[in-house]
Amino acid sequence: MELKILPGNISNMIAAGEVVLRPSSVVKELVENAVDAGATDIKVIITDSGRTLIQVIDNGCGMSPDDAVLCFERHATSKISSADDLQDIMTFGFRGEALPSIAAVADVTLRTRREEDEVGCEVEFADSRQLSAKQVSTPKGSNFAVRDLFYNTPARRKFLKSDNVEFRHIIEEFTRIALTRPDIGFSLTHNNRDIYVLRPAKSLKFRILDLLGSNVAGDLVDVSAETSYVKIEGFAGRPDTAKKTLGNQFFFVNGRYIRSPYLHKAVMKAYEQLIPEGVTPSYFLYLTIDPHCIDVNISPTKNEIKFEDESVIFQTVFASVRQVLGKNSFAGDIDFDREGAPEMPVLGKNFSEFRQGLAPQTDFDPNYNPFDRPRDTQGAFDFSDYSGASASPASHGGPFGTGAQGGAFGSQGGYSKYVDKREDYGKLFEQKTLPSTQILILQGRYIMAPAKSGVMILNVQRARERIFYDRFLEAVSKNGHVSQVSLFPVQVQVGAANRTIFDDNEELLKSLGFDISAFGNDTVVVNGVPEGFSSEESKVQAMLADILIALTDSQNSLPDMLAAATAQKMAAVGAKCGSVLTSPIEAQNLIDAVFASSNPEFTPSGKRITAIASFDQIDKLF
Ligand SMILES: Nc1ncnc2c1ncn2[C@@H]1O[C@H](COP(=O)(O)OP(=O)(O)OP(=O)(O)O)[C@@H](O)[C@H]1O
Ligand SMILES: [Mg+2]
Repeated sequence: MELKILPGNISNMIAAGEVVLRPSSVVKELVENAVDAGATDIKVIITDSGRTLIQVIDNGCGMSPDDAVLCFERHATSKISSADDLQDIMTFGFRGEALPSIAAVADVTLRTRREEDEVGCEVEFADSRQLSAKQVSTPKGSNFAVRDLFYNTPARRKFLKSDNVEFRHIIEEFTRIALTRPDIGFSLTHNNRDIYVLRPAKSLKFRILDLLGSNVAGDLVDVSAETSYVKIEGFAGRPDTAKKTLGNQFFFVNGRYIRSPYLHKAVMKAYEQLIPEGVTPSYFLYLTIDPHCIDVNISPTKNEIKFEDESVIFQTVFASVRQVLGKNSFAGDIDFDREGAPEMPVLGKNFSEFRQGLAPQTDFDPNYNPFDRPRDTQGAFDFSDYSGASASPASHGGPFGTGAQGGAFGSQGGYSKYVDKREDYGKLFEQKTLPSTQILILQGRYIMAPAKSGVMILNVQRARERIFYDRFLEAVSKNGHVSQVSLFPVQVQVGAANRTIFDDNEELLKSLGFDISAFGNDTVVVNGVPEGFSSEESKVQAMLADILIALTDSQNSLPDMLAAATAQKMAAVGAKCGSVLTSPIEAQNLIDAVFASSNPEFTPSGKRITAIASFDQIDKLF
């Protein structure tokens, strides 16, 4: 075998594979360079989510004609010149790798001029080769236009995700840099539409406000702590406003965004017992640390970092966030200041349920009847449909104990084994018509009704989940439409990145009964929801957050997901965001609907919907 040095264009292409993963990587590298060049105004122009064009225009220091060519050479950097400098990096870039990598997989045109030069220059590179160089008149600064990304690596091009997914990545990178420098003006344009126009901001808080809207910025408390080792500044979200939306969690170290699942755990630990499970607070934490104590150069994209002493940073992040949450007394009587306080007991899994139990009742819209359908016998409970074979006594334990008479609705156990036993239910009820006064609604969460062998208890949320699931599944799998109720339009600022998710799934959401339209760059307006969903504004807002999670749960857009999985997720959203049950008529409509569903016994995920407290069990109470 003969050893060979790889030709430059091939080694560049290999390096590009690590640095340039997708269009957003190009945006990141070019914008970082513009910041490093001292620009005060940076414009990002994108066409077709970066497949066709990524252009970054800055008013920074610019380059000499020689440097304009040299910067595309491997390891050409103006940012470090000795190994010692590597220890003191305060710029984004330092390796001289980004531009050669980009020029290996795209067509790049650079126009640039320094303040002191009368004319600027234009150079063009593609396939790691210089195509041209000429004098041009151009404003002070640099203007990089990257065209036809991955044109010479078709496999990579093919692996790009949908336009909206790629654009979301671009917004993410843009946001991360914009959050490091509120003093710089940034704009982002996509297909000739302004997505962000961020003027230089007075403070970080204003930048967060401009970027993410008042929903996020309004609910933050200041974090500030300093030890001899690290300084931590920034903001953390109030626990009571923590949403299930991911994406507003940011760590910056010495002005650079970094990804750190480890430090994320430190923040989550600080919120322990203050937020329900499954919910993530927003945070924007800026760490300043002696550059000698960190190593940025551990990943090609430079967004991971190694700390000399990780556990000290963990403790400091935890303590500083915990302290500010304590100071603002979100934590009730938990004593934060007590020196050496023992670890607080963890309530664990049941915590969210425990919280729910304490939560005040939500208010409701008394005129809205989610399952209102034309009925022949208003106020009557007609089970004539359900008469048939006799009910077999249940053999396994239900929620009311494990006795022989335990569970009410049969011995089938799980959802998968479910056999339609609808006929059996008729026998459970003594009367063919039941006056609605005999139906009890408990806390809007349970419905109780007399049954033949005891008392039937129905879990409202789960019943709804089942009903929604059946409807959604039918709509998704048969191209049908779920009926919709119009609302007084509710406007929700969801952020530009999330707005594209709604664009992505517009058709599908429509077929599921949602009328959600874009409004501006970062806002959507909800004009209609599926029948049975709440029209109350706060619930509509919560619903949007939940829909976003359902839509982004899988990396793919909604149509790619299995119909059943889609229906199941949306049904769970619907169950949570249902309107508040107020009248016995609504309750009986719900009972009717669930008994007419494909499985009144279990939710799509296999949770029990209905149970019977048998007379035996009731007797045992006395
Ligand atoms: N927008 C710009 N304005 C002025 N000079 C620039 C600009 N972009 C790049 N340069 C010059 O080109 C050099 C090479 O840029 P490149 O991004 O390839 O490397 P780097 O930023 O030094 O390191 P890294 O690979 O870590 O990003 C920079 O060091 C800088 O001198
Ligand atoms: Mg760079």
